[in-house]
Amino acid sequence: MESPAPAAVIVLAAGAGTRMKSRTPKVLHEIGGRSLLVHAVTAAEGTGPSELVVVLRHERDRVAAHLAEHAAEVTVADQDDVPGTGRAVQCGLDQVSASEGTVLVTYGDVPLLEPATLRELVTAHEGARAAVTVLTSRVPDPTGYGRILRSEDGSEVLGIVEHKDATDEQLAIDEINSGIYAFDLAVLRDALGRIGTDNAQGEMYLTDVLSIARSDGRSVRAVVTADVMMVEGVNDRVQLAQLGAEMNRRTLERHMRSGVTIIDPSTTWIDSDVSIAQDAVILPGVQLHGATDIGTEATIGPDTTLRDTEVGEGAEVVRSHAVLAVIGANATVGPFSYLRAGTDLGEKGKIGGFVETKNAKIGPGAKVPHLSYVGDAEIGEGTNIGAATIFANYDGVDKHRTTVGKHVRVGSDNVLVAPITIGDGAATGAGTTVRKDVPPGALAVNAVAQRNMEGWTLRRRAGTAAEAAARAALGAEDRSAADAPATEVADEHKEHEQR
Ligand code: UD1
Ligand code: CA
Repeated sequence: MESPAPAAVIVLAAGAGTRMKSRTPKVLHEIGGRSLLVHAVTAAEGTGPSELVVVLRHERDRVAAHLAEHAAEVTVADQDDVPGTGRAVQCGLDQVSASEGTVLVTYGDVPLLEPATLRELVTAHEGARAAVTVLTSRVPDPTGYGRILRSEDGSEVLGIVEHKDATDEQLAIDEINSGIYAFDLAVLRDALGRIGTDNAQGEMYLTDVLSIARSDGRSVRAVVTADVMMVEGVNDRVQLAQLGAEMNRRTLERHMRSGVTIIDPSTTWIDSDVSIAQDAVILPGVQLHGATDIGTEATIGPDTTLRDTEVGEGAEVVRSHAVLAVIGANATVGPFSYLRAGTDLGEKGKIGGFVETKNAKIGPGAKVPHLSYVGDAEIGEGTNIGAATIFANYDGVDKHRTTVGKHVRVGSDNVLVAPITIGDGAATGAGTTVRKDVPPGALAVNAVAQRNMEGWTLRRRAGTAAEAAARAALGAEDRSAADAPATEVADEHKEHEQR
Protein backbone atom coordinates (compact mmCIF):
# COMPACT_ATOMS: atom_id res chain seq x y z
CA MET A 1 0.00 0.00 0.00
CA GLU A 2 1.22 3.48 -0.89
CA SER A 3 1.79 5.43 2.28
CA PRO A 4 0.87 9.12 2.25
CA ALA A 5 3.71 11.63 1.97
CA PRO A 6 3.99 14.13 4.84
CA ALA A 7 3.60 17.85 4.23
CA ALA A 8 6.95 18.47 5.89
CA VAL A 9 9.79 16.90 7.81
CA ILE A 10 11.70 18.93 10.40
CA VAL A 11 15.12 17.54 11.33
CA LEU A 12 16.51 18.89 14.62
CA ALA A 13 20.25 19.52 14.59
CA ALA A 14 20.82 22.66 16.64
CA GLY A 15 22.40 20.97 19.68
CA ALA A 16 26.08 21.39 20.55
CA GLY A 17 26.98 17.71 20.99
CA THR A 18 29.54 18.50 23.70
CA ARG A 19 30.06 14.86 24.65
CA MET A 20 31.74 14.20 21.30
CA LYS A 21 34.65 16.34 22.56
CA SER A 22 35.31 17.38 18.99
CA ARG A 23 36.11 20.40 16.88
CA THR A 24 33.79 18.92 14.30
CA PRO A 25 30.07 19.46 14.93
CA LYS A 26 28.48 16.21 16.08
CA VAL A 27 26.12 15.80 13.13
CA LEU A 28 29.05 16.05 10.70
CA HIS A 29 30.78 12.99 12.15
CA GLU A 30 30.51 10.06 9.77
CA ILE A 31 29.48 6.46 9.79
CA GLY A 32 28.98 4.33 6.71
CA GLY A 33 30.65 7.00 4.56
CA ARG A 34 28.10 9.74 5.22
CA SER A 35 27.62 12.30 7.97
CA LEU A 36 25.05 11.55 10.66
CA LEU A 37 23.05 14.47 9.31
CA VAL A 38 23.03 13.23 5.72
CA HIS A 39 21.79 9.85 6.98
CA ALA A 40 18.98 11.63 8.81
CA VAL A 41 18.13 13.81 5.80
CA THR A 42 18.18 10.79 3.48
CA ALA A 43 15.68 8.97 5.71
CA ALA A 44 13.48 12.07 5.78
CA GLU A 45 13.65 12.43 1.99
CA GLY A 46 12.57 8.81 1.65
CA THR A 47 9.08 9.79 2.83
CA GLY A 48 8.71 12.21 -0.10
CA PRO A 49 7.86 15.32 1.93
CA SER A 50 6.81 18.54 0.20
CA GLU A 51 9.10 20.51 2.50
CA LEU A 52 12.26 19.43 4.33
CA VAL A 53 13.69 21.72 7.00
CA VAL A 54 16.83 21.26 9.10
CA VAL A 55 17.09 23.33 12.28
CA LEU A 56 20.61 24.58 13.07
CA ARG A 57 22.35 26.70 15.68
CA HIS A 58 25.65 25.22 16.88
CA GLU A 59 28.33 25.81 14.17
CA ARG A 60 25.49 26.91 11.94
CA ASP A 61 27.57 28.05 8.94
CA ARG A 62 29.71 24.94 8.81
CA VAL A 63 26.72 22.61 9.01
CA ALA A 64 24.76 24.69 6.48
CA ALA A 65 27.70 24.50 4.05
CA HIS A 66 27.78 20.72 4.47
CA LEU A 67 24.06 20.56 3.69
CA ALA A 68 24.48 22.80 0.65
CA GLU A 69 27.07 20.35 -0.65
CA HIS A 70 25.35 17.06 0.17
CA ALA A 71 21.63 17.83 0.46
CA ALA A 72 21.02 21.02 -1.49
CA GLU A 73 17.22 20.61 -1.48
CA VAL A 74 16.80 21.16 2.28
CA THR A 75 15.80 24.45 3.85
CA VAL A 76 17.87 25.64 6.80
CA ALA A 77 16.04 27.14 9.80
CA ASP A 78 17.93 28.93 12.56
CA GLN A 79 17.07 28.38 16.20
CA ASP A 80 17.40 31.44 18.42
CA ASP A 81 18.54 31.75 22.06
CA VAL A 82 15.53 29.98 23.50
CA PRO A 83 16.63 26.42 24.28
CA GLY A 84 14.76 23.15 23.88
CA THR A 85 13.33 20.83 21.30
CA GLY A 86 10.01 22.70 21.39
CA ARG A 87 11.70 25.94 20.38
CA ALA A 88 13.72 24.11 17.73
CA VAL A 89 10.56 22.79 16.09
CA GLN A 90 8.92 26.20 16.36
CA CYS A 91 11.84 27.79 14.52
CA GLY A 92 11.64 24.99 11.96
CA LEU A 93 7.93 25.59 11.44
CA ASP A 94 8.65 29.23 10.61
CA GLN A 95 10.17 27.91 7.38
CA VAL A 96 7.24 25.62 6.55
CA SER A 97 4.69 27.21 4.24
CA ALA A 98 1.99 24.52 4.54
CA SER A 99 -0.81 25.18 7.03
CA GLU A 100 -2.21 21.69 7.30
CA GLY A 101 -1.22 18.06 6.93
CA THR A 102 1.29 15.86 8.72
CA VAL A 103 4.67 17.05 9.95
CA LEU A 104 7.36 14.57 10.92
CA VAL A 105 10.01 15.54 13.46
CA THR A 106 13.31 13.62 13.52
CA TYR A 107 16.83 14.18 14.87
CA GLY A 108 20.01 14.84 12.93
CA ASP A 109 22.00 12.51 15.19
CA VAL A 110 19.86 9.36 14.71
CA PRO A 111 21.53 7.67 11.73
CA LEU A 112 19.89 4.24 11.50
CA LEU A 113 16.34 5.47 11.10
CA GLU A 114 14.81 4.19 7.87
CA PRO A 115 12.22 5.73 5.56
CA ALA A 116 10.03 2.62 5.90
CA THR A 117 9.67 3.25 9.64
CA LEU A 118 8.78 6.89 9.04
CA ARG A 119 6.23 5.89 6.43
CA GLU A 120 4.64 3.41 8.86
CA LEU A 121 4.48 6.22 11.41
CA VAL A 122 2.68 8.50 8.92
CA THR A 123 0.29 5.72 7.91
CA ALA A 124 -0.61 4.89 11.54
CA HIS A 125 -0.93 8.57 12.43
CA GLU A 126 -3.20 9.51 9.53
CA GLY A 127 -5.16 6.24 9.74
CA ALA A 128 -6.06 7.05 13.36
CA ARG A 129 -6.66 10.77 12.63
CA ALA A 130 -4.38 11.45 15.59
CA ALA A 131 -3.05 14.85 16.64
CA VAL A 132 0.32 13.36 17.63
CA THR A 133 1.83 9.92 17.11
CA VAL A 134 5.12 9.29 18.86
CA LEU A 135 7.58 6.54 17.95
CA THR A 136 8.52 4.70 21.15
CA SER A 137 10.62 1.73 22.15
CA ARG A 138 11.04 -0.46 25.22
CA VAL A 139 14.68 -0.48 26.32
CA PRO A 140 16.67 -2.30 29.02
CA ASP A 141 18.17 0.98 30.29
CA PRO A 142 15.88 4.02 29.88
CA THR A 143 18.23 6.40 31.72
CA GLY A 144 18.16 9.89 30.26
CA TYR A 145 15.18 9.38 27.99
CA GLY A 146 11.71 10.86 28.26
CA ARG A 147 9.27 8.22 29.57
CA ILE A 148 5.94 7.45 27.95
CA LEU A 149 3.01 7.90 30.37
CA ARG A 150 0.06 5.66 29.55
CA SER A 151 -3.43 5.18 30.93
CA GLU A 152 -3.84 2.41 33.48
CA ASP A 153 -4.81 -0.23 30.90
CA GLY A 154 -1.96 1.00 28.69
CA SER A 155 -4.19 1.75 25.71
CA GLU A 156 -3.83 5.54 25.70
CA VAL A 157 -0.79 7.80 25.72
CA LEU A 158 -1.19 10.55 28.33
CA GLY A 159 2.07 12.36 27.82
CA ILE A 160 5.86 12.24 28.14
CA VAL A 161 7.86 13.08 31.24
CA GLU A 162 11.55 13.94 30.92
CA HIS A 163 14.04 11.93 32.97
CA LYS A 164 15.05 15.02 34.97
CA ASP A 165 11.41 15.83 35.79
CA ALA A 166 10.28 12.28 36.55
CA THR A 167 9.20 10.77 39.87
CA ASP A 168 10.82 7.54 41.06
CA GLU A 169 7.74 5.69 39.91
CA GLN A 170 7.95 7.25 36.42
CA LEU A 171 11.67 6.49 36.21
CA ALA A 172 10.78 2.79 36.40
CA ILE A 173 8.91 3.03 33.07
CA ASP A 174 10.89 1.32 30.32
CA GLU A 175 8.98 2.69 27.33
CA ILE A 176 10.96 5.66 26.04
CA ASN A 177 10.37 8.56 23.68
CA SER A 178 12.56 8.15 20.59
CA GLY A 179 12.14 11.84 19.78
CA ILE A 180 10.56 10.96 16.42
CA TYR A 181 6.95 12.01 15.90
CA ALA A 182 4.17 12.63 13.43
CA PHE A 183 2.14 15.77 14.23
CA ASP A 184 -0.94 17.36 12.86
CA LEU A 185 0.55 20.62 11.59
CA ALA A 186 -2.20 22.92 12.88
CA VAL A 187 -2.19 21.29 16.33
CA LEU A 188 1.58 21.55 16.50
CA ARG A 189 1.68 25.25 15.62
CA ASP A 190 -1.03 26.03 18.13
CA ALA A 191 0.39 23.92 21.00
CA LEU A 192 3.94 25.23 20.58
CA GLY A 193 2.58 28.73 21.13
CA ARG A 194 1.34 27.63 24.55
CA ILE A 195 4.50 25.88 25.83
CA GLY A 196 6.55 27.38 28.64
CA THR A 197 9.97 26.68 30.12
CA ASP A 198 8.79 25.77 33.62
CA ASN A 199 10.70 22.52 34.02
CA ALA A 200 13.93 21.11 35.45
CA GLN A 201 15.99 22.28 32.44
CA GLY A 202 14.29 25.63 31.79
CA GLU A 203 13.73 24.61 28.15
CA MET A 204 10.78 24.55 25.78
CA TYR A 205 9.94 20.85 25.69
CA LEU A 206 8.48 19.54 22.45
CA THR A 207 7.15 16.67 24.55
CA ASP A 208 4.70 19.07 26.22
CA VAL A 209 2.76 19.18 22.95
CA LEU A 210 1.43 15.70 23.73
CA SER A 211 -0.23 16.63 27.04
CA ILE A 212 -1.55 19.90 25.56
CA ALA A 213 -3.13 18.07 22.61
CA ARG A 214 -4.63 15.53 24.96
CA SER A 215 -6.10 18.16 27.29
CA ASP A 216 -7.68 19.72 24.17
CA GLY A 217 -9.43 16.39 23.66
CA ARG A 218 -7.28 15.33 20.70
CA SER A 219 -6.02 11.81 20.17
CA VAL A 220 -2.39 11.06 21.08
CA ARG A 221 -0.94 7.74 20.03
CA ALA A 222 2.26 5.74 20.02
CA VAL A 223 3.88 3.36 17.54
CA VAL A 224 6.23 1.01 19.36
CA THR A 225 9.29 -0.22 17.49
CA ALA A 226 11.19 -3.31 18.59
CA ASP A 227 14.25 -2.06 16.68
CA VAL A 228 15.97 -0.09 19.46
CA MET A 229 19.10 0.64 17.41
CA MET A 230 17.03 2.32 14.71
CA VAL A 231 15.98 5.13 17.02
CA GLU A 232 19.24 5.44 18.94
CA GLY A 233 21.14 8.72 18.77
CA VAL A 234 24.86 9.39 18.83
CA ASN A 235 26.02 11.38 21.84
CA ASP A 236 29.68 10.35 22.15
CA ARG A 237 32.34 8.50 20.17
CA VAL A 238 31.56 5.19 21.81
CA GLN A 239 28.04 5.36 20.42
CA LEU A 240 29.43 6.58 17.09
CA ALA A 241 31.46 3.37 16.82
CA GLN A 242 28.60 1.18 18.02
CA LEU A 243 26.10 2.62 15.57
CA GLY A 244 28.75 2.57 12.85
CA ALA A 245 29.27 -1.15 13.40
CA GLU A 246 25.53 -1.76 13.48
CA MET A 247 25.00 0.20 10.28
CA ASN A 248 27.76 -1.82 8.62
CA ARG A 249 26.19 -5.06 9.83
CA ARG A 250 22.86 -4.01 8.30
CA THR A 251 24.50 -2.93 5.04
CA LEU A 252 26.33 -6.26 4.69
CA GLU A 253 23.14 -8.17 5.45
CA ARG A 254 21.28 -6.22 2.75
CA HIS A 255 23.96 -7.12 0.18
CA MET A 256 24.09 -10.79 1.20
CA ARG A 257 20.31 -11.04 0.96
CA SER A 258 20.47 -9.64 -2.56
CA GLY A 259 23.01 -12.22 -3.70
CA VAL A 260 26.48 -10.96 -2.80
CA THR A 261 28.89 -13.40 -1.15
CA ILE A 262 30.67 -11.84 1.84
CA ILE A 263 33.08 -14.38 3.25
CA ASP A 264 33.88 -12.59 6.51
CA PRO A 265 31.40 -9.92 7.64
CA SER A 266 33.50 -9.24 10.75
CA THR A 267 36.38 -7.78 8.67
CA THR A 268 34.34 -6.23 5.86
CA TRP A 269 33.28 -2.56 5.85
CA ILE A 270 30.92 -1.26 3.22
CA ASP A 271 29.62 2.32 3.05
CA SER A 272 25.91 3.01 2.60
CA ASP A 273 26.21 4.31 -0.96
CA VAL A 274 28.20 1.37 -2.35
CA SER A 275 26.42 -0.80 -4.89
CA ILE A 276 27.33 -4.44 -5.50
CA ALA A 277 25.86 -6.65 -8.20
CA GLN A 278 24.70 -10.19 -7.70
CA ASP A 279 27.31 -12.96 -7.39
CA ALA A 280 30.16 -10.63 -6.59
CA VAL A 281 32.47 -12.16 -3.97
CA ILE A 282 33.92 -10.04 -1.17
CA LEU A 283 36.88 -11.72 0.52
CA PRO A 284 38.07 -10.93 4.09
CA GLY A 285 39.60 -7.57 4.99
CA VAL A 286 37.84 -5.43 2.37
CA GLN A 287 36.68 -1.81 2.75
CA LEU A 288 34.42 -0.39 0.05
CA HIS A 289 33.89 3.35 0.38
CA GLY A 290 31.94 6.19 -1.17
CA ALA A 291 30.21 5.58 -4.47
CA THR A 292 32.09 2.37 -5.24
CA ASP A 293 30.25 0.10 -7.66
CA ILE A 294 31.09 -3.60 -7.99
CA GLY A 295 29.96 -5.58 -11.04
CA THR A 296 28.51 -9.03 -11.15
CA GLU A 297 30.87 -11.95 -10.45
CA ALA A 298 33.74 -9.64 -9.59
CA THR A 299 36.02 -10.78 -6.77
CA ILE A 300 37.39 -8.20 -4.35
CA GLY A 301 40.09 -8.93 -1.79
CA PRO A 302 41.42 -10.14 0.40
CA ASP A 303 42.67 -6.95 2.07
CA THR A 304 41.57 -4.38 -0.46
CA THR A 305 40.33 -0.80 -0.08
CA LEU A 306 38.33 0.83 -2.86
CA ARG A 307 36.99 4.37 -2.75
CA ASP A 308 34.66 5.79 -5.41
CA THR A 309 35.86 3.03 -7.72
CA GLU A 310 33.98 1.17 -10.41
CA VAL A 311 34.80 -2.52 -10.87
CA GLY A 312 33.48 -4.28 -13.97
CA GLU A 313 31.86 -7.64 -14.22
CA GLY A 314 34.13 -10.60 -13.53
CA ALA A 315 37.13 -8.45 -12.58
CA GLU A 316 39.52 -9.47 -9.79
CA VAL A 317 41.17 -7.06 -7.37
CA VAL A 318 43.63 -8.61 -4.93
CA ARG A 319 45.28 -6.84 -1.94
CA SER A 320 45.15 -3.40 -3.55
CA HIS A 321 44.09 0.18 -2.93
CA ALA A 322 42.11 2.24 -5.44
CA VAL A 323 40.66 5.74 -5.40
CA LEU A 324 38.44 7.17 -8.16
CA ALA A 325 39.47 4.39 -10.53
CA VAL A 326 37.65 2.38 -13.15
CA ILE A 327 38.52 -1.31 -13.50
CA GLY A 328 37.10 -2.91 -16.63
CA ALA A 329 35.19 -6.14 -17.03
CA ASN A 330 37.34 -9.24 -16.46
CA ALA A 331 40.41 -7.12 -15.71
CA THR A 332 42.81 -8.12 -12.94
CA VAL A 333 44.56 -5.94 -10.37
CA GLY A 334 47.16 -6.75 -7.75
CA PRO A 335 48.38 -8.01 -5.48
CA PHE A 336 49.84 -4.89 -3.85
CA SER A 337 48.98 -2.18 -6.35
CA TYR A 338 47.81 1.40 -5.91
CA LEU A 339 45.36 2.83 -8.42
CA ARG A 340 45.04 6.58 -7.98
CA ALA A 341 42.46 9.01 -9.32
CA GLY A 342 41.82 8.78 -13.03
CA THR A 343 43.04 5.25 -13.54
CA ASP A 344 40.90 3.58 -16.18
CA LEU A 345 41.82 -0.04 -16.85
CA GLY A 346 40.17 -1.54 -19.93
CA GLU A 347 38.38 -4.83 -20.32
CA LYS A 348 40.64 -7.82 -19.66
CA GLY A 349 43.49 -5.43 -18.85
CA LYS A 350 46.02 -6.17 -16.16
CA ILE A 351 47.66 -4.11 -13.44
CA GLY A 352 49.88 -6.62 -11.67
CA GLY A 353 51.99 -6.46 -8.52
CA PHE A 354 53.56 -3.33 -7.05
CA VAL A 355 52.26 -0.98 -9.71
CA GLU A 356 51.14 2.62 -9.13
CA THR A 357 48.90 4.30 -11.66
CA LYS A 358 47.42 7.78 -11.85
CA ASN A 359 45.37 9.54 -14.47
CA ALA A 360 46.11 6.69 -16.85
CA LYS A 361 43.91 5.09 -19.44
CA ILE A 362 45.06 1.53 -20.02
CA GLY A 363 43.38 -0.06 -23.02
CA PRO A 364 41.53 -3.34 -23.35
CA GLY A 365 43.83 -6.32 -22.85
CA ALA A 366 46.81 -4.05 -22.11
CA LYS A 367 49.13 -5.09 -19.31
CA VAL A 368 51.29 -3.38 -16.73
CA PRO A 369 52.31 -6.52 -14.91
CA HIS A 370 55.17 -5.66 -12.53
CA LEU A 371 56.76 -2.89 -10.46
CA SER A 372 55.86 0.15 -12.57
CA TYR A 373 54.60 3.71 -12.29
CA VAL A 374 52.15 4.88 -14.93
CA GLY A 375 51.05 8.53 -14.65
CA ASP A 376 49.32 10.88 -17.09
CA ALA A 377 49.30 8.29 -19.84
CA GLU A 378 47.27 6.53 -22.42
CA ILE A 379 48.19 2.95 -23.27
CA GLY A 380 46.59 1.30 -26.28
CA GLU A 381 44.86 -2.02 -26.64
CA GLY A 382 46.99 -5.15 -26.23
CA THR A 383 50.15 -3.27 -25.27
CA ASN A 384 52.56 -4.74 -22.71
CA ILE A 385 54.62 -2.52 -20.43
CA GLY A 386 57.80 -4.31 -19.30
CA ALA A 387 58.64 -4.76 -15.64
CA ALA A 388 59.95 -1.75 -13.71
CA THR A 389 58.99 0.81 -16.33
CA ILE A 390 58.48 4.38 -15.15
CA PHE A 391 56.38 6.97 -16.93
CA ALA A 392 58.33 10.12 -16.01
CA ASN A 393 55.46 12.59 -16.27
CA TYR A 394 56.73 15.42 -14.07
CA ASP A 395 59.65 17.69 -14.93
CA GLY A 396 59.52 19.44 -11.56
CA VAL A 397 57.29 22.22 -12.90
CA ASP A 398 54.72 20.76 -15.26
CA LYS A 399 53.13 17.39 -15.87
CA HIS A 400 53.15 15.95 -19.37
CA ARG A 401 51.33 13.13 -21.06
CA THR A 402 52.65 9.96 -22.61
CA THR A 403 50.83 8.12 -25.35
CA VAL A 404 51.67 4.49 -26.06
CA GLY A 405 49.87 2.99 -29.05
CA LYS A 406 48.26 -0.38 -29.59
CA HIS A 407 50.14 -3.68 -29.38
CA VAL A 408 53.38 -2.01 -28.31
CA ARG A 409 56.08 -3.96 -26.45
CA VAL A 410 57.85 -1.68 -23.99
CA GLY A 411 60.92 -3.49 -22.68
CA SER A 412 61.76 -3.92 -19.02
CA ASP A 413 63.21 -1.07 -17.00
CA ASN A 414 62.30 1.68 -19.43
CA VAL A 415 61.91 5.32 -18.54
CA LEU A 416 59.37 7.03 -20.80
CA VAL A 417 60.10 10.76 -20.48
CA ALA A 418 56.91 12.70 -21.22
CA PRO A 419 55.74 14.23 -23.45
CA ILE A 420 56.30 11.40 -25.94
CA THR A 421 54.33 9.18 -28.25
CA ILE A 422 55.15 5.58 -29.04
CA GLY A 423 53.41 4.47 -32.22
CA ASP A 424 51.25 1.39 -32.76
CA GLY A 425 53.11 -1.89 -32.98
CA ALA A 426 56.44 -0.32 -31.90
CA ALA A 427 58.86 -1.87 -29.42
CA THR A 428 61.61 -0.67 -27.09
CA GLY A 429 64.63 -2.57 -25.83
CA ALA A 430 65.27 -3.35 -22.20
CA GLY A 431 66.65 -0.42 -20.25
CA THR A 432 65.69 2.19 -22.83
CA THR A 433 65.22 5.80 -21.77
CA VAL A 434 62.69 6.98 -24.32
CA ARG A 435 63.07 10.74 -24.85
CA LYS A 436 61.90 11.01 -28.45
CA ASP A 437 58.79 9.76 -30.19
CA VAL A 438 58.98 6.23 -31.55
CA PRO A 439 57.27 5.79 -34.95
CA PRO A 440 54.79 2.92 -35.46
CA GLY A 441 56.53 -0.39 -35.94
CA ALA A 442 60.01 0.88 -34.92
CA LEU A 443 62.33 -0.62 -32.32
CA ALA A 444 63.86 2.00 -30.02
CA VAL A 445 67.08 1.18 -28.19
CA ASN A 446 69.53 3.46 -26.44
CA ALA A 447 70.95 1.41 -23.64
CA VAL A 448 74.79 1.75 -23.49
CA ALA A 449 76.63 -1.07 -25.27
CA GLN A 450 77.92 -3.61 -22.77
CA ARG A 451 81.65 -4.16 -22.14
CA ASN A 452 82.93 -7.06 -20.07
CA MET A 453 86.12 -6.41 -18.13
CA GLU A 454 87.47 -9.90 -17.89
CA GLY A 455 88.78 -11.03 -14.51
CA TRP A 456 87.74 -7.84 -12.70
CA THR A 457 86.54 -9.70 -9.58
CA LEU A 458 89.74 -11.71 -9.38
CA ARG A 459 91.82 -8.52 -9.28
CA ARG A 460 89.60 -6.11 -7.38
CA ARG A 461 87.75 -8.37 -4.98
CA ALA A 462 90.50 -10.73 -3.96
CA GLY A 463 89.70 -12.74 -0.86
CA THR A 464 85.93 -12.56 -1.25
CA ALA A 465 83.48 -15.39 -1.83
CA ALA A 466 82.82 -13.81 -5.23
CA GLU A 467 86.46 -14.19 -6.19
CA ALA A 468 86.45 -17.83 -5.06
CA ALA A 469 83.27 -18.54 -7.02
CA ALA A 470 84.66 -16.83 -10.12
CA ARG A 471 87.93 -18.75 -9.91
CA ALA A 472 86.11 -22.03 -9.53
CA ALA A 473 83.91 -21.25 -12.53
CA LEU A 474 86.81 -20.09 -14.67
CA GLY A 475 88.94 -23.10 -13.74
CA ALA A 476 92.72 -23.38 -13.85
CA GLU A 477 92.94 -23.23 -17.68
CA ASP A 478 91.91 -19.56 -17.98
CA ARG A 479 94.32 -17.32 -16.05
CA SER A 480 94.65 -14.64 -18.71
CA ALA A 481 91.96 -12.32 -17.33
CA ALA A 482 93.62 -12.13 -13.91
CA ASP A 483 96.87 -11.08 -15.58
CA ALA A 484 95.47 -8.00 -17.32
CA PRO A 485 97.43 -4.75 -16.70
CA ALA A 486 96.42 -3.25 -13.33
CA THR A 487 96.25 0.43 -14.48
CA GLU A 488 93.64 -0.17 -17.16
CA VAL A 489 91.44 -2.06 -14.71
CA ALA A 490 91.70 0.67 -12.08
CA ASP A 491 90.60 3.30 -14.61
CA GLU A 492 87.63 1.24 -15.73
CA HIS A 493 86.59 0.84 -12.14
CA LYS A 494 86.80 4.55 -11.43
CA GLU A 495 84.76 5.35 -14.49
CA HIS A 496 82.11 2.92 -13.34
CA GLU A 497 81.88 4.43 -9.88
CA GLN A 498 81.46 7.97 -11.20
CA ARG A 499 78.48 7.11 -13.32
C1 UD1 B 1 14.78 14.51 23.89
C2 UD1 B 1 13.35 14.34 24.40
C3 UD1 B 1 13.26 13.04 25.17
C4 UD1 B 1 13.68 11.88 24.29
C5 UD1 B 1 15.07 12.14 23.73
C6 UD1 B 1 15.43 11.07 22.72
C7 UD1 B 1 12.50 16.57 24.78
C8 UD1 B 1 12.16 17.61 25.76
N1 UD1 B 1 13.02 15.46 25.22
O1 UD1 B 1 15.66 14.56 25.00
O2 UD1 B 1 11.92 12.84 25.61
O3 UD1 B 1 13.65 10.67 25.01
O4 UD1 B 1 15.12 13.40 23.06
O5 UD1 B 1 16.76 11.22 22.36
O6 UD1 B 1 12.24 16.76 23.59
N2 UD1 B 1 17.90 20.02 19.74
C9 UD1 B 1 17.78 21.23 19.08
N3 UD1 B 1 17.61 22.37 19.78
C10 UD1 B 1 17.58 22.37 21.15
C11 UD1 B 1 17.71 21.14 21.82
C12 UD1 B 1 17.87 19.98 21.09
O7 UD1 B 1 17.81 21.25 17.84
O8 UD1 B 1 17.42 23.46 21.72
C13 UD1 B 1 18.11 18.81 18.96
C14 UD1 B 1 19.46 18.19 19.24
O9 UD1 B 1 20.42 18.65 18.31
C15 UD1 B 1 19.18 16.71 19.07
C16 UD1 B 1 17.73 16.58 19.47
O10 UD1 B 1 17.16 17.86 19.37
O11 UD1 B 1 19.30 16.30 17.72
C17 UD1 B 1 17.55 16.01 20.85
O12 UD1 B 1 18.22 16.80 21.78
P1 UD1 B 1 18.81 16.20 23.11
O13 UD1 B 1 19.26 17.30 23.97
O14 UD1 B 1 19.74 15.12 22.78
O15 UD1 B 1 17.53 15.45 23.71
P2 UD1 B 1 16.84 15.67 25.08
O16 UD1 B 1 16.21 17.02 25.08
O17 UD1 B 1 17.72 15.29 26.16
CA1 CA C 1 20.14 12.89 22.87
